[in-house]
Amino acid sequence: MTTRLVTSALPYANGPIHLGHMVEHVQTDVYVRYLRAIGDDVTWICAADAHGTPIEVNAGKAGIAPADFAEKYRQDQRQTFQRFGIEHDTYYTTHSPENRAWAYLIYDALKARGLIYRKSVEQLYCEHDRRFLPDRFVKGTCPKCGTPDQYGDVCERCGTTYDPRELKDPACALCQRPPVVRASDHAYVNLRKPEVAAIIRGWVEAEGHLEPAVRQQVQGWLADLQDWCITRDAPYFGFPVNDPDFPGKFLYVWLDAPIGYLSSGEHYFAEEAPAARRLSPAAYRARYLAEGAPARLEHVIGKDILRFHAVFWPAMLWAAGIKRPDRMVVHGHLTVNGEKMSKSRGTFINASTYLDSGLDPELLRYFFAASLGAGVSDLDLSLEEFRNRINADLANNVANLASRVAALVERSGGVIEPSREIVGGAAAGIQAATLTALSAARDRYQELQLREVVRQVAEVASLCNKRIQDGKPWEAPTSEASRALLWDVGKALVAIAVMLQPVMPRFAAKLAEAFGEPPPRWDASLDPFHGPLRVTGKPPQIARLDAAQVDKLIAAPAEGAAKASARPVAPAKVARSSSPAEGAARASAKAAAPATFGVIQYEDFAKVELRVGAVRAAAKVEKADKLLRLSVDVGEPEPRTIVAGIAQAYPDPSLLVGKRIVVVANLAPRTLRGITSQGMLLAAGEPPDLQLVTVGDSIAPGTRVK
Ligand code: 2FM
Ligand code: ZN
Repeated sequence: MTTRLVTSALPYANGPIHLGHMVEHVQTDVYVRYLRAIGDDVTWICAADAHGTPIEVNAGKAGIAPADFAEKYRQDQRQTFQRFGIEHDTYYTTHSPENRAWAYLIYDALKARGLIYRKSVEQLYCEHDRRFLPDRFVKGTCPKCGTPDQYGDVCERCGTTYDPRELKDPACALCQRPPVVRASDHAYVNLRKPEVAAIIRGWVEAEGHLEPAVRQQVQGWLADLQDWCITRDAPYFGFPVNDPDFPGKFLYVWLDAPIGYLSSGEHYFAEEAPAARRLSPAAYRARYLAEGAPARLEHVIGKDILRFHAVFWPAMLWAAGIKRPDRMVVHGHLTVNGEKMSKSRGTFINASTYLDSGLDPELLRYFFAASLGAGVSDLDLSLEEFRNRINADLANNVANLASRVAALVERSGGVIEPSREIVGGAAAGIQAATLTALSAARDRYQELQLREVVRQVAEVASLCNKRIQDGKPWEAPTSEASRALLWDVGKALVAIAVMLQPVMPRFAAKLAEAFGEPPPRWDASLDPFHGPLRVTGKPPQIARLDAAQVDKLIAAPAEGAAKASARPVAPAKVARSSSPAEGAARASAKAAAPATFGVIQYEDFAKVELRVGAVRAAAKVEKADKLLRLSVDVGEPEPRTIVAGIAQAYPDPSLLVGKRIVVVANLAPRTLRGITSQGMLLAAGEPPDLQLVTVGDSIAPGTRVK
């Protein structure tokens, strides 16, 4: 058993939780549930990140104190997470006495090691609002491409990053007046000092801390290591610097935010944990945080905040004598229908909008898991794929299978004892495939390859469906062969419940219970193929989603947005600027390809609706040498009939059954030999050497090809 302190990034207490946050918290929740299922002792810490200029400004606009403003959002966020089945052990705040003490402790440790120095920095200052302006509080014209109305750190149009002082015609985002340049003294941490740089590098390069691709990115930053500014001027909402050398300054929110992991853990163990888990601050520190402490420290974060976590954070921890993280899991960002979430286009989806639409949160958890690998690629919530996946993987492949099997077992007396025939494996293949999938799923969970776990589940369910289809147990449900097959499939469904439990805890519990078992503990040796199979309840259903239900997630675009949304060039997401005046590394500008004669625009291509179809049946069309009639599942309630001129290439049409092909799904129907064909298949070559274009089995029928 491994003891772990797991964290996810602390959302700013500056607004409600949106689906972008939800990706990370679902990922962490699934990971934590998996670890607990295999018997680890896991504590999951989260909190609201309560400090910084935006919270101070927005609280001012709302006419309330920043602490009250942050507290209101903390409560709101906590409730939203709970409604998604996200069960942090604590959801505390960075504006806490514990965090203040920890922040001072770490500041003092940095100072004691001689790592803090003073430097004068020039920044934009608004004389009207009497404040220095953080990058996001300045707007102006991009110095590179001339696009107006860009923030002070990055141009949304061309992707260039710059110093706010470089903006043309800068204006304060609060009062629209031009700011001036003013200097102010700040505290910097000397990260370039060789012993500090060596600590950071040592942590980054050690095996297991970062995925190789992530490590490489961080190494790029280390090659050009910059010192870090950790103070801000008033007005600010944060902890005042407790050092006479920096009177009137505040600790930068990014100093005390990750410290919030440590302090929230201390608060949890001292005040919130069940009595048997309570720990004094000293005991907590010894068990979880001290150098060489037995517990693992693991962070889950988004790629946009990697620099803070992988460069600054190890140095802060080291300075204070605290162990560095054992693992940092980094995920990509969420896009919606292929684009960055955008309020003006209505694709900025709050978690409460999802809940209000009546969709089950476990469906989104499943979709996110099905999309998440171990890398930092962005994941897309294409509403169409969401619907297709739920319908194909969950409604058809798993839930429908479970109901059919439960009904057949009931017809066969409700209980099936394992018999010699069963042990011999009449439905050979299911047991072995399921045990292999269980073992692979454990490894994939450990690696955070959640989409591979989902694939294991889909493969077992598909195999079971196929065996049921072939074995036709409904024809003689009480025969020994049918009972053997049903026993195998029923037990495989219990294994599916085990594998799905971290992703869809409610669904999985009901599934396991319907087949007479409380969700079993996931020991490495778990083998569900024992004992009688008892159907004790109705398996959980998944209603098929229709487009109207899912489309509710997207609000009507804000006025004028249609024009603005003419496929803007997405800027490369850059790490948030780490000091008041330091620009991030310059990203090269990407220009859109010019329109060329004979070249179609994306909009033209997008008119063709290509979808993955699963061939369910195929037969020759009578008196037509060249034609086959296919029944193709394209993720709709009924399969489509498609007539295609491919008979010469496929003399045995039954070989096509089960193939995943590509269908032009929005072609007007055509009648061929009296049969209405509802689509066209993609193929390459000429008969008889023609081949249908196919995709792998892991792509669900109905998935858009683009
Ligand atoms: O980027 C953000 O939303 C930050 N509030 C994350 C902080 S994570 C940690 F460092 F606290
Ligand atoms: Zn102003």
